Amino acid sequence: MNRLLDQIDKNKLPQHLAIIMDGNGRWAKAKGLFRSMGHESGTKAVREITEACAEINIPYLTLYAFSTENWNRPKLEVELLMRLLVSSLKKEIKTLNKNNIKLNAIGNLEALPKKAHKELLDVIDKTKGNTRMTLTLALSYGAREEIIKTVKEISDKVKKGLISPQNIDEVIITSHLYTRDLPDVDLLIRTSGEQRISNFLLWQIAYAELYFTDILWPDYTKKDLFEAILNYQNRERRFGKTSEQIN
Ligand code: FPP
Repeated sequence: MNRLLDQIDKNKLPQHLAIIMDGNGRWAKAKGLFRSMGHESGTKAVREITEACAEINIPYLTLYAFSTENWNRPKLEVELLMRLLVSSLKKEIKTLNKNNIKLNAIGNLEALPKKAHKELLDVIDKTKGNTRMTLTLALSYGAREEIIKTVKEISDKVKKGLISPQNIDEVIITSHLYTRDLPDVDLLIRTSGEQRISNFLLWQIAYAELYFTDILWPDYTKKDLFEAILNYQNRERRFGKTSEQIN
């Protein structure tokens, strides 16, 4: 593990790492457990990966914890995920402060149950002064919903004469997204073998490197993360330019 860590170039770290944490259900099923146990184990991986990112100084980590589509899961599973969110937030607040990590959330947060919403806002408030890393939870998040909200807000400003349609550009759109305070995603990891984006950060991943692994989220460790980062560092990001222009 230390050998892996030594190989990572600290000057070429992704500034914004986003993760689609997938496979909790399959992990539980394979072990003959309830799906809920998969989610519970998933929270342990959340803790390990968050600490690993803080350790190597990745400034922005964004986790897809609950999508707008996840509301369609059985009522009991949704309730359990929300309870897990509240209990994890309560439990982790001390560790977040100790590690100087700021909690942030993106998504239609008003749709969350009152208790979860309140707990979330409370932890966001109690960690707002932290500066080492921003941990963003995507909750009741859907990229299309985010884009629709953005279009509505910009249209409203156009109607009021605050923005002229000719001036609408990437900066204006970016500044209306839930992620307005975050840089673009550099590396997007999805666990569990699925190779799709599932309505996550569609605008923000325009130039991200994509990394897919078969490991199920509850089994995902710090070592796996370091391997993904090494893989990312060995790629050439050209942003539309030629290889010669980059080098
Ligand atoms: C995907 O696995 C995972 C989720 C929908 C929820 C992710 C939640 C956690 C890791 C725990 C709570 C998080 C926090 C931040 C406290 P899946 O259920 O889709 O798995 P499957 O595809 O194998 O069924």
